[in-house]
Amino acid sequence: MNRRRRLALLGAAGALATGCAAPGRPGGAGSPDAAGSAGIAAAPASAADGALPVGIPRVTEEVPYVQTPQSVVDAMLALAGVGPGDRLVDLGSGDGRVVITAASRHGVPGLGVELDERLVALSRQLAEQAGVQALARFVAQDLFDTDLAPYSVVTLYLLPEVNLALRPRLLRMAPGTRVVSHDWDMADWLPDRSLTLPAPGKPVGLRRESRLHRWVVPAAFEGAWRGRLAGERDATLVLSIQQRFQRLEIEWRIDGAAPVGLPAGGRTQARAEGDRVSLRLGAGAGAPVAGLRLRQGRIEADLSWGGGPPRAALLQAV
Ligand SMILES: C[S@@+](CC[C@H](N)C(=O)[O-])C[C@H]1O[C@@H](n2cnc3c(N)ncnc32)[C@H](O)[C@@H]1O
Repeated sequence: MNRRRRLALLGAAGALATGCAAPGRPGGAGSPDAAGSAGIAAAPASAADGALPVGIPRVTEEVPYVQTPQSVVDAMLALAGVGPGDRLVDLGSGDGRVVITAASRHGVPGLGVELDERLVALSRQLAEQAGVQALARFVAQDLFDTDLAPYSVVTLYLLPEVNLALRPRLLRMAPGTRVVSHDWDMADWLPDRSLTLPAPGKPVGLRRESRLHRWVVPAAFEGAWRGRLAGERDATLVLSIQQRFQRLEIEWRIDGAAPVGLPAGGRTQARAEGDRVSLRLGAGAGAPVAGLRLRQGRIEADLSWGGGPPRAALLQAV
């Protein structure tokens, strides 16, 4: 799809802002302050990772330069829960506002990655004006050439197919990494949380609102696991876990003698929050509960039932 048609299509849905194409790029509309006229909005994003060209994540179509309104930047950082210990990367950083705000309001170091050198120069200038040049760094580079490993928070304001191309890389980041995207989702990797907020300052879009999505990168729980339940002579917790992103289908049973009050087995659904999962072992409010944490290739489980103290189990993959 050529750019004009693409922007027209996206503009018809009216969800995103008017933008100018990245200056200097083929088909670009000019400088960062010479706003274009087309809106971009919801193109369907339904492909699964398997539908993407294997090993060719680079996206050839440009992502227009559109600024996130400051109120929406603030909401993105709140949704990401940025705080001490975080390192943020904004992929396609425009004038650097997300990184500069993270640094100036939250004291969080960050990197803005932006193809357009003029926007990078502007970002550095704005960071200096804000007095956060030591925390807010910018590089002129393709976001797909960026090592994401050092970061605990990723922010995006790209396009649906770029989000999808990035998705496998995001899923390889450390469990617990938060990803926040302005307007666009990740197809069948459903967000953990989404919200819509008014964005009167948005350059275009019929509704003048922004949609934000948040994901937490899940640990890889899938597989079969077993481990002895501490404090019991002969009780082993056995888990069989199927995983689709953060959604888990967990079959569990106790091999040996199930302690009184703990059902001998069952099946339940749960949601991973990074490397942690909470689940109920049975129905009803008084059902036993379990907390799982995946660390260094093992699952640390804590089971509580019948008002007694939690019992631990260290589960190995089998
Ligand atoms: C919609 S703007 C978002 C700007 C900023 N993050 C914000 O929210 O205000 C997207 C930016 O991504 C940049 N961009 C597009 N493709 C890129 C790529 N492959 N690598 C790095 N930056 C890219 C564009 O130049 C543009 O500035």
